[in-house]
Amino acid sequence: MDISVIGCGYLGAVHAACMASLGHHVIGVERDPERAARLNRGDPVFFEPGFAEMLQSGLAADRLHFTTDVGTVAGSRVHFLCVGTPQRADGDAADLDALHTAVNDLVPQLRPGDVVVGKSTVPVGTAQHLAALIRRADPDTALVWNPEFLREGTAVDDTLHPDRLVYGVCAEVGHADGEQTLDPVALLDSVYADQLADNTPRMITDYATAELVKVAANSFLATKISFINAMADVCEATGADVHLLADAIGQDPRIGRQFFNAGLGFGGGCLPKDVRAFRVRAEELGATEPAAFLQQVDMINSRRPLAAADLAERMLDGRLAGRRIAVLGATFKPSSDDIRQSPGLATATLLQARGATVVVTDPEGTDNARKAHPDLDLTDDLELALTGADAVLVATDWAAFRELDPSWVAGLVSGRVIIDGRDILDRATWAAAGWTVATLGRPTLQFSPAVESAQVQNCRVGRVGLEPTTKRL
Ligand code: UGA
Repeated sequence: MDISVIGCGYLGAVHAACMASLGHHVIGVERDPERAARLNRGDPVFFEPGFAEMLQSGLAADRLHFTTDVGTVAGSRVHFLCVGTPQRADGDAADLDALHTAVNDLVPQLRPGDVVVGKSTVPVGTAQHLAALIRRADPDTALVWNPEFLREGTAVDDTLHPDRLVYGVCAEVGHADGEQTLDPVALLDSVYADQLADNTPRMITDYATAELVKVAANSFLATKISFINAMADVCEATGADVHLLADAIGQDPRIGRQFFNAGLGFGGGCLPKDVRAFRVRAEELGATEPAAFLQQVDMINSRRPLAAADLAERMLDGRLAGRRIAVLGATFKPSSDDIRQSPGLATATLLQARGATVVVTDPEGTDNARKAHPDLDLTDDLELALTGADAVLVATDWAAFRELDPSWVAGLVSGRVIIDGRDILDRATWAAAGWTVATLGRPTLQFSPAVESAQVQNCRVGRVGLEPTTKRL
């Protein structure tokens, strides 16, 4: 199939490379000439496991090209809209300017029988409007809304092996007077033939439902995280342990333990802006209670960096001025170099504003963090970041941080205080190595030589709420 992908950001670039890997001929249209040129050279532009190899093999097989010229898509039959819909600069709504530009540029190139496939995350009602535009220009074309559910860090696998395929279609398509009509569903089925052969569930809906599937899924995931973070606050007020609470209630399959880790909360280019844009759209539609609900989810999340900064301050006896803090993690999640809405960087900024000397380190995110936060001290050198620190804050759940050797770190720092903002450390091991371990929503594990052996023993037998009884999911 000849395919075009309009917009080669995270979603579009990965989608284009994955479609080429399935044997399709793909033209990626990217309006930033430098980005298009880099992709054409096989330079992945961002860090995403497996993407560079897939990009390079698509280019080598001559099935993948990038261009700034939308005129070159005229030979494609399926056109994927993958442009970004970020949060508007002047508020919480989604900015649809790039999407409208993309559609306006694409419409003159469409030929009878072409199918436009919307993958960008949009406010409900957008597809109906775009479909009217497209069909007005050429009635023998169609729009399908086909939301994307890939996660950064596993984007390639998520695209090739999705949990489900959703096709939002226009109610009238396929009912035109007994003539042979365009069948956009069949065409999209051929694009996704491999996924369908794997028995991926495929659901056909109206436009509004397809648009809502995406924002409702992200809002549910965000709600799950904000719920457990709200419970973390209650646990702190009562001396309970949110990790054990999540383990216990997560045993109920209706609740589930996945995506239920308390800590610094959600960041990135998707969950925060999608919850906000959904809230604004709900307000516009007069759905005030759903809007208020989404606002709470956002508010609970926005306060997590503040809770972490407060915890760090308490652990340093209420005095941050002049204290050195190593922040481990600049990216919003591991296996990514994306620092958008990073809870770790938000916490680092708060700590610095309160007078601490903050050094941030990250395995992949320091270049991007430097550009966005020239005010912060960033280093690629973990050892340097830790040297002389009065406290250490784990802000991103990179395996490299989870697996740190507490004795090695103890040899570098000035004070053995660690704040586990992602609840990933083996607390008993850290405490046994002389550390005080503070975790949002969990009792602080205070090192004390007098009780050391009893405490470690307690940890081993899983008593006094010290350790998780199930593995982290
Ligand atoms: C999210 C969704 O998970 C994808 O399904 C969706 O397709 C994508 O947005 C999108 O809209 O494009 P992503 O932004 O890559 O994917 O990141 P997630 O894996 O969802 O993580 C988001 C944030 O939640 C991270 O900051 C992570 O640290 C945090 N998180 C995750 C928690 O705080 N607790 C958890 O239990 C899990």
